Amino acid sequence: MSGHVLIIDYGSQYTQLIARKVRALGYYAEILPAGLEVEPALAKEPGALILSGGPASVEAPGAPTLDEKLLAANLPTLGVCYGMQLLAKSLGGRLTSSEGGEYGPADLTTAPSPLWRDLPSQKISVWMSHGDRVSQIPEGFVVIGQTADLSIAAMAKPEKNLYGLQFHPEVHHTQGGETILRNFLELAKLTADWRMDSFIQKSILAIQEKTRGARILLGLSGGVDSTVTAAILDRAVGKNLYCVFVDNGLLRHNEAEEVSQYLKKAFPQLNLIVANAGDLFLTNLKGVVDPEKKRQIIGQTFIDVFTEEANKLGPIDFLAQGTLYPDVIESISPFGPSALIKSHHNVGGLPENLQFELIEPLRDLFKDEVRVLGAELGVPHELLWRQPFPGPGLAIRIVGEVTPEALTVVRHCDLIIREELEKSGLAKDIWQAFAVLLPVKSVGVMGDGRTYFKAVAIRAVTSVDAMTADWARLPDTLLARWSSRLINEVAGVNRVLYDISTKPPSTIEWE
Ligand code: XMP
Repeated sequence: MSGHVLIIDYGSQYTQLIARKVRALGYYAEILPAGLEVEPALAKEPGALILSGGPASVEAPGAPTLDEKLLAANLPTLGVCYGMQLLAKSLGGRLTSSEGGEYGPADLTTAPSPLWRDLPSQKISVWMSHGDRVSQIPEGFVVIGQTADLSIAAMAKPEKNLYGLQFHPEVHHTQGGETILRNFLELAKLTADWRMDSFIQKSILAIQEKTRGARILLGLSGGVDSTVTAAILDRAVGKNLYCVFVDNGLLRHNEAEEVSQYLKKAFPQLNLIVANAGDLFLTNLKGVVDPEKKRQIIGQTFIDVFTEEANKLGPIDFLAQGTLYPDVIESISPFGPSALIKSHHNVGGLPENLQFELIEPLRDLFKDEVRVLGAELGVPHELLWRQPFPGPGLAIRIVGEVTPEALTVVRHCDLIIREELEKSGLAKDIWQAFAVLLPVKSVGVMGDGRTYFKAVAIRAVTSVDAMTADWARLPDTLLARWSSRLINEVAGVNRVLYDISTKPPSTIEWE
């Protein structure tokens, strides 16, 4: 049986997590947003179906439904939360909607079922997040799990490999969640054949087939996605790849040099063009204080510089981008891309007036898979595990106008923060740690003199995917090192603050 799992997305915030978990278990998972045509996905002959959770009420008018063609395909099926309710209703069961619902941990008491094989005990702690519930299971099903609040928390029709879970096996807080998913995939008799080395082979052949000796242009930022894109294209087309690294003057200390050195060492044949455009970016940003305006100007300037470099290179047929699977899913979801909080421009945004064909070798992968791929392709560890750094760079870490002086200050602060974090040995636990230069001045005393200098905020967060983040609980010894070095070594700073806001409601970057 194919190792391919089709996941129907009913809008749960956890759907991508299901796909990532399935892939980590060695099975290829594809997400199809509910409401789209199912035939093309079924034509790929998936070996199992997972119905995700979702925010709607199954009985509400206009709520997404289970396409009959999916049921008719007779696939082993796992319904999660909304997916379980939909499965129950479609097969003749009944639902009740309850006021309030149930959110957070619950103790599940399991009844014998192969779905629970290898769980640590008969009672496990699971994560619930639902309003409605199944009040009557469809004919032929048995109840295989209950909680104090729910008499039907899990159901099964084992001979057909149909399972429903009211809780979320994909979230970290469900005990044995991964075991449950693995059991389902094994019961479905799928072959675990999703491996990075076979992805590399297939992907290289596909790139060669598509480009047939034509030239490819790639905007390289030194971030994980564009670097791994460069690595696989380098393997596939060698000298026909041209990478443009835009030094926008908004980078961290020594960044342009470091990134190009790492890249040249790992990929000696790479055609790497560094465009020095710091002055142009600064000129365009002169007098601008509004965060969105800064982002737009930077995005546009990137495109201008990139276009100019492309024109210098002569005819180019393909533009490569490091688009990842979450971007693809978001752009096809009928629920629409999430509301615009900040415009994110990545290097190499597609200039409309250039007639390139797009090539996106990573569009089937999640970030963690991109790192595995990068490591297999020889991308240096230092590049794969760098802290994320926003495309607009230090410009969005200066509240107020971006000037050469402000950049010098914030760049120096950033260096000190990263140096001390490395020394503390805590860097691997921190998603990002950086300085934000505030437009606030305060009075201080240095030596015997009065100072009236700027304040710097330190932002250090923990996160798994930047969707949510918590401020890092760091030892006061590190905070003290940061504070004393920042105030003593960076001219123009006399006060240091520690940002203790979570995301949401704040964001990670200040602008
Ligand atoms: P926020 O500030 O939205 O940031 O909580 C979430 C993550 O995204 C990074 N970030 C960006 N990355 N281009 C990028 O490539 C951008 O314009 C951009 N803005 C924010 C941010 O550093 C954090 O990791």
